[in-house]
Amino acid sequence: AITNRFYTYERVEEIVGFIQKLVTTKPEIAIICGSGLGGLAELVTDKIVVPYADIPHFPRSTVVGHRSNLVFGNLNGLYVVCMQGRFHPYEGYTTATCAFPVRVMRMLGAHTLIVTCAAGGVNKGFSVGDIMLIKDHLNFPNLAGNNPLIGHNDERYHLFPGPRFPPVGHAYDRAYLLKMKEVAKKHNVELREGVYCGLGGPCYETIAEINMLRILGGDAVGMSTVHEVTLAAHCGFRTLGLALITNKCLSDYNTTYEPVHEDVIRISELKANELQQLIFDFVGFIKDHR
Ligand code: 6GU
Repeated sequence: AITNRFYTYERVEEIVGFIQKLVTTKPEIAIICGSGLGGLAELVTDKIVVPYADIPHFPRSTVVGHRSNLVFGNLNGLYVVCMQGRFHPYEGYTTATCAFPVRVMRMLGAHTLIVTCAAGGVNKGFSVGDIMLIKDHLNFPNLAGNNPLIGHNDERYHLFPGPRFPPVGHAYDRAYLLKMKEVAKKHNVELREGVYCGLGGPCYETIAEINMLRILGGDAVGMSTVHEVTLAAHCGFRTLGLALITNKCLSDYNTTYEPVHEDVIRISELKANELQQLIFDFVGFIKDHR
């Protein structure tokens, strides 16, 4: 089995200790920025930028459209930490390595996780540029025996609370889903809501695979998020997930379109501002309802 022998509790503590020497404010909100969506960090004031390269034992993002910084500061009245650039299994990292920064951000004090990602639209009713609230996910690597929690369950995570067999049925917080719908209404943004399918990549899907995902109840497909949300559920985060539909998926053998990363980045950058405004307002809500 692929286990997480490297990112032990002690290593997470060491990394947290390193960061706390540079950043004295305690972040309440952790934000993971998807492909082309790292611009959210530009809205953060009183910024302290900590490059992944400076942090002991931290991986690097190797993907175009992803930077490699933790950005600390104030967002609409709350201290936040943004991952500007995330890690994906297709880069050669285990799901445990990809997701371990979630524990770092939790140990730094964050209680709320906001994940954003680019995704392909599986649901035929979705259009390019739609924003989908993630209400649940299909975690394919997990179903295939590749869960980031495989291996020793360090009892010390029980603080947050970290059981051996964590429930994930409410990994996406119900109250946050409702609140984000209200925020979107105020901005006249019509949100979609659906099930995100997390696959390993790096290939985009075959036509048969997309049709399978649709039959299984999937609405969007991507290569991230699910392992992060799994660790977040384990260590007691309340999570909000937003997927930006950057492209259509292949559905029949007559279509000639194929997804390309350039389209993903282009649409992300086009819609980033709208998504960032929603998150900005949502953080304001959290501030008033802690
Ligand atoms: Cl179509 N598939 C996957 N797996 N990830 C994506 C995507 C498609 N579009 C953006 N990200």
